[in-house]
Amino acid sequence: MAIVKAGGKPSLTVIDNRNGKQYELPIKHNSVLATDIKKIKAEPQPGDRAEDETSQGLRVYDPAYMNTAVIESRITYINGQDGILRYRGYPIEQLVKKSNFLETAYLLIYGELPTQSQYDSWQNEVLHHTFVHTDVEDMLKSFRYDSHPMGMLTSALATLGTFAPEANPSLQGQKLYTNAATGDVEALRTIDKQILRIIGKAPTLAAASYRMRQGRPFNRPAHGLSYTGNFLYLLDNLSGHEYTPHPVLERALDALFIIHADHEVNCSTATVLQVGSSLVDPYSVVASGCSALYGPSHGGASESAIRMLIEIGSPENVPAFMEKVEKRERVLVGFGHRVYKNVDPRSTAIRELAEEVFKITGRNQLLDTALTLAKYARESEFMRSRNLYPNVDFYSGLIYQAMGFPLDFYPVLFAVPRCVGWLAHWRQQMLNPSGVKIWRPRQIYLGEGEREYVDAASRKEKDKVGVFDAPVQVSHGGDSKRNRLATYKDEMGHTLRPKL
Ligand SMILES: CC(C)(COP(=O)(O)OP(=O)(O)OC[C@H]1O[C@@H](n2cnc3c(N)ncnc32)[C@H](O)[C@@H]1OP(=O)(O)O)[C@@H](O)C(=O)NCCC(=O)NCCS
Repeated sequence: MAIVKAGGKPSLTVIDNRNGKQYELPIKHNSVLATDIKKIKAEPQPGDRAEDETSQGLRVYDPAYMNTAVIESRITYINGQDGILRYRGYPIEQLVKKSNFLETAYLLIYGELPTQSQYDSWQNEVLHHTFVHTDVEDMLKSFRYDSHPMGMLTSALATLGTFAPEANPSLQGQKLYTNAATGDVEALRTIDKQILRIIGKAPTLAAASYRMRQGRPFNRPAHGLSYTGNFLYLLDNLSGHEYTPHPVLERALDALFIIHADHEVNCSTATVLQVGSSLVDPYSVVASGCSALYGPSHGGASESAIRMLIEIGSPENVPAFMEKVEKRERVLVGFGHRVYKNVDPRSTAIRELAEEVFKITGRNQLLDTALTLAKYARESEFMRSRNLYPNVDFYSGLIYQAMGFPLDFYPVLFAVPRCVGWLAHWRQQMLNPSGVKIWRPRQIYLGEGEREYVDAASRKEKDKVGVFDAPVQVSHGGDSKRNRLATYKDEMGHTLRPKL
């Protein structure tokens, strides 16, 4: 392969050594098109399987998207090498210091910082949409008292969609949103109304999931508070009047919301875009984003990081834990990042916040353990050689804990602001002038070739059966000993005898 500049246009010359053919692939924005790679075709080679489909063109194999750009975007820029994060060109550090969450949300979704009057009307509209239908409250009340709040939030966001049939492309026509790309104002209005509804209602639903855990009645949104102030009110107000959250905590939560609002095409945003490409409604889209965020490798990491610190306990246990990490028996949660291989700029911004919060709440008991762990990790050859540094989740968990949030609420505190990033990406996707193509990756098929169906009587077990080749025996949680000893007939009339 060689990169040349033919006629001033950068391109990549590829020689297919299977047949000597040469191809010239244009390079734009330092990328080649995967569909240009598909033009590289050859006759099946010795060793190729029919399922390799060699004559249909070369495929790009990129498990876990290690080097695949899937969108053109104008929203967020990350440079993992130099530790840069910018929303619409503005460095995250400046936004954390000077902006507020709703202003940053406007910036992310609409591309520019709002003027004062744009901001006022945006804030009014978002806060106007914080109320949820009482039937949604009833739905939340049907959860078990100990349900994980992230499960409740995910379900509640999907449920919201059932209250907005006018916003459902399955009912209104599949171009309901994509018509906006040609300037159809009605379609744009439909997009922006759902954006307001989701951003407005996300804290109300999140707070309801929190109150459910405590058996407390849900609060109705308050007037006259900021977005995060209202969120704290919804979470914490009991029966007092004129509830005002502590300004430092309100500001810290607002700053954490800015930091978490977007992060380019991360796992949950890729999920949002994947699901959005099917043209489903935006409530289903953000619910799928929540599901992706819930995982311990993504938004669940701040919760897991604190659980890990609690398990380590005091600082003197850190060396023993680090030994386990270096033997690869444990993962150091809150360290490492797919993109940031030097410093996570969010973790730098968050460290200052942590100090401000601790001045109000008192020092987090786990802080010394965390700092000792960070020191050991810095000095560890294992960690250094793999570019594993503290990420945002390492410090955010410490702040959430100092502020008294329960562990399983941390991913919710991430999901609420991330709705903004998801919706910014979803809106950009719907407004793509070339339309929305459904996302459909390829695979490399390694399974059996074609074979004839075998009747049950002629089937034989394989000689060597591994644990993966058949279902393992599962236990039935509800089975009592008395049940197991009883004799009864099942619905099909088969007699079941005691399993002794
Ligand atoms: C974030 C994360 C999923 C990124 O994964 P990734 O880019 O796919 O990185 P890899 O899994 O390829 O890791 C590269 C190497 O570092 C090791 N590694 C990565 N993160 C590690 C961690 N937190 N602790 C210990 N080892 C880690 C891997 O075992 C691997 O080692 P190897 O090359 O010897 O096999 C990963 O670093 C992780 O699981 N971190 C902990 C969870 C977390 O904090 N997530 C929040 C992210 S904001």
